[in-house]
Amino acid sequence: MTTSTVTAAGTAGATAPGLGFGVHFTAHMVVSRWTPAEGWAPLELAPHGPLSLSPAAMALHYGQAVFEGLKAYPAADGSLALFRPHVNADRFGRSARRLAMPELPAEMFLDACERVVRADAGEVPRGHGQSLYLRPFMVAVEPSLGVRPAQEYLFAVIASPVDYFFAGGYQAIDVWCATDQIRAAPGGTGAAKCAGNYAGSLSAKAQALANGCHEVLWLDAAEHRWVEELGAMNFFCVGRGENGVDELITPGLSGTILAGNTRDSLLTLAAGLGIEVAQRPVSVDELTAGDGRITEAFACGTAASVVPIGAVTAGSGRALIGDGLPGKVTTRLRDELAAIQYRQQADPYGWMHAVELN
Ligand code: PLP
Ligand code: COI
Repeated sequence: MTTSTVTAAGTAGATAPGLGFGVHFTAHMVVSRWTPAEGWAPLELAPHGPLSLSPAAMALHYGQAVFEGLKAYPAADGSLALFRPHVNADRFGRSARRLAMPELPAEMFLDACERVVRADAGEVPRGHGQSLYLRPFMVAVEPSLGVRPAQEYLFAVIASPVDYFFAGGYQAIDVWCATDQIRAAPGGTGAAKCAGNYAGSLSAKAQALANGCHEVLWLDAAEHRWVEELGAMNFFCVGRGENGVDELITPGLSGTILAGNTRDSLLTLAAGLGIEVAQRPVSVDELTAGDGRITEAFACGTAASVVPIGAVTAGSGRALIGDGLPGKVTTRLRDELAAIQYRQQADPYGWMHAVELN
């Protein structure tokens, strides 16, 4: 890994010589199709390749498209294991329901992920921080321009050998507080992992980059005051609690925040390490006050794991978080999580799902 600037891997300007994120794909994919009469067809393993779609396929017009992201992690003994795949299977079901799409049974989701990992086990990279990123997705393929739930769907899992999402490696990023755009509103689709949420986030991300920042800090829709998420990741900070003890804080799942697998895992890990945890609102004013109460902030997600936040640019200017470097609690949590995922230490919560290889 190289570079003095942090750049999102896979975008123009990525400077890392490694795999990047979502740039390379393995040889296989698994697919199934759904119709009201037949339900889900048996999963099929196929070569990774182009899909044949009608130009009237409804996903292309009205955006019935949901997806997931999870990783298979290699261990030193050659084994491969998925991290809490049932959490992704359940969320995939909730996303599908929100978009009026058929639910895929959780066992089928899991079977599809395992089949791709098994088929392409030889392509899983084994360098530091590397893994196989799985992308299960479901799209409406019925050819129709009617505005209604489609009657035909395609489910597939593709796989990409990846590095961590940020090409610059583990360093603190600068974030840009979005003031004139929001990611999600109450009653909307913010808690679903649907394609449109990401399309709607791209122009604010361009603004962040144009202002020398790496990611967007999303605020709530009603008051533009409360921190919700960071790019396509959940948000955490560390601050002095009422009783003078440091606590790990993240906004509660209000319906506008995606329920992250990593978020949930870090809350559990932190509590197990004896760190106080609190789910409560955090205002952007509190975050940028510079009064020393917030000492660390970070974002987390499957793709990037844990990403320290060094500074926040909001209306009042650029405010450093702590000393602007990755914080102690942040780094400890990141290391503990990686040690479980790469099986360098025990898995006390039973999170790793071993994939039996041929
Ligand atoms: N928030 C959003 C909007 C996301 O897209 C993701 C990524 O999936 C996350 C948070 C983090 O979720 P997870 O930890 O399950 O990857
Ligand atoms: C994640 O897996 O952390 C994501 O946010 C996926 C992202 C690349 C859309």
